[in-house]
Amino acid sequence: MTKIILHGCFGKMGQAITEIVKDMEDVQIVAGIDPHAGSADYPVFPSLAECAIEADVVVDFSAPAAVVSLLEAAVPRKIPVVVCTTGLSKEQINLVKESAGSIPLLFSANMSLGINLMISLVKKAALVLTEAGFDIEIIEKHHNRKKDAPSGTALYLADAINSVFDYDFAYSYGRSHQTEPREKNEIGISSLRGGNIAGEHQVIFAGEDEILEIHHKAGSRRIFAVGAIGAARFLSGKTAGLYTMSDVIG
Ligand SMILES: NC(=O)c1ccc[n+]([C@@H]2O[C@H](COP(=O)([O-])OP(=O)(O)OC[C@H]3O[C@@H](n4cnc5c(N)ncnc54)[C@H](O)[C@@H]3O)[C@@H](O)[C@H]2O)c1
Repeated sequence: MTKIILHGCFGKMGQAITEIVKDMEDVQIVAGIDPHAGSADYPVFPSLAECAIEADVVVDFSAPAAVVSLLEAAVPRKIPVVVCTTGLSKEQINLVKESAGSIPLLFSANMSLGINLMISLVKKAALVLTEAGFDIEIIEKHHNRKKDAPSGTALYLADAINSVFDYDFAYSYGRSHQTEPREKNEIGISSLRGGNIAGEHQVIFAGEDEILEIHHKAGSRRIFAVGAIGAARFLSGKTAGLYTMSDVIG
């Protein structure tokens, strides 16, 4: 049995996880953390520091500032954490990496199976097609309540491509302010917000006479919730270190 503390339990993702876990026999939410009001069939606390309930792992879908207080409480307790919150600043990402020196920590901007496979596909495509002169553009689409832009996943895809080339590519966010043609060594990243779109990411490799598009569409938030629960199962009992969804998928 994997016992989970759900950080951000009253949010959209927290609720999606709560629903899925109800039908699982080997996973249990033993406590929730959320400073806002709501009701749950497990005890809820305003912060991890105020929750004395024992668990195998914390699963976090909250807000960037909340990740800081979460890690400050999790590290002395030596409890593993799956950080799924996106939009973290450089300092907050550094804190995540630093914390992984003391606890098992899995950090991923996207918990879905499809996107994590897409990461390896775009790296391979970039290696072959950039050599052949193709330009790389990323388009992401999300619901009208999403706060951060571009999405953490769009940056995750761009960083994965960039890692193949020792981070030589600059990112160009939208083009309305530009008056010159695009540079060769750039990745364009464009964001669209509307309705209830759960998440779409499209990487476009555009050459002179052919275009390759790798496109992922999330049908619902369920895919992230399922991935996060898989990550929680994986992380429970691991040694300290920084893990990603690639470690879970294998
Ligand atoms: N990694 C992924 O695959 C993935 C997928 C979906 C969403 N996300 C990210 O997860 C985060 C949450 O998404 P959401 O759609 O559920 O957002 P949401 O706004 O619906 O929910 C966030 C919840 O966190 C709670 N919260 C705020 N401060 C807190 C604190 N200090 N401690 C504990 N809880 C706190 C809020 O009260 C709210 O209930 C966002 O950053 C989103 O981009 C990541």
